[in-house]
Amino acid sequence: MIVARTIDQVRDARLNLKEPVGLVPTMGALHRGHLALLKTARRSDQSVIATLFVNRSQFGNPEDFSAYPRDEEADLAAFEAAGVDLVFMPTEAELYPKGITATVHPGRIAHELEGTRRPGHFAGVATVVAKIFGLTQPHRAYFGQKDWQQTRVIAEMVANLNIPLTLTVIGTVRDSDGIALSSRNVRLTSRERGAATSLYRGLTSAREAWDAGTHAPTSLAEIVSNVISQEPLATTAYVEVRHALTLTPLSKTIPPFVIAGAIEIGGIGLIDNIVVGNGLTLAEELNG
Ligand code: PAF
Repeated sequence: MIVARTIDQVRDARLNLKEPVGLVPTMGALHRGHLALLKTARRSDQSVIATLFVNRSQFGNPEDFSAYPRDEEADLAAFEAAGVDLVFMPTEAELYPKGITATVHPGRIAHELEGTRRPGHFAGVATVVAKIFGLTQPHRAYFGQKDWQQTRVIAEMVANLNIPLTLTVIGTVRDSDGIALSSRNVRLTSRERGAATSLYRGLTSAREAWDAGTHAPTSLAEIVSNVISQEPLATTAYVEVRHALTLTPLSKTIPPFVIAGAIEIGGIGLIDNIVVGNGLTLAEELNG
């Protein structure tokens, strides 16, 4: 496994990779969700590139950026074990030597849900992902369903800017208590963790209610919020039912739609979602 820390190193190493090349961009603190992305890339592509960069510009809150878990040694060992060919892990000075002087401005999709809670977040994500795409020139890039809105922002960027690659979205990996794996989970105390299960429990109840005939978006959102409100440690930031691909509000829940929610627990923000219908397949086809 080659570890590139500079732009010159990653460009040189990329030239020698067998194609097609799969890319898994990460901010490190790897968990089984990342490993699922790496495994899929390893199976589908001749070479796998992973990136590790904790991208300050997508954190609205400097404390959240500082508290973001970092373990470079463990991450490198996990990349190696997953069969990654090339890891790109630049410093901030390497990636943004003159600061951030040009950015990608994502459209409407980026300014709702997480975009309302975290203004500027998706511009930070889209900008760094565009840089990483440019530097690594992958044929396919892999992202997790947990960050559903992120996948839609990136899909829109790829389509609008005619970036020649295919996005693949992999289903959310969960712990046995249902919590979606996230690097932030390690910051939860055991009581907070118990409370954090309410988001997925709420989403599951809403899904069951939809199967049983409750189809009004507001009723489904209310089911999720009610489950969360039973946990004194958890606060609902939002619960929304939206078209799975365009994320536009719906008056009727016709698949594919997504029920997306965010909660705050002890100052930590957690997100999760359920996609009803063939949203994942469609997401891939749209970018194929
Ligand atoms: O999903 C993440 O870990 C980050 O948003 C990403 C895509 C690596 C960009 O920093």
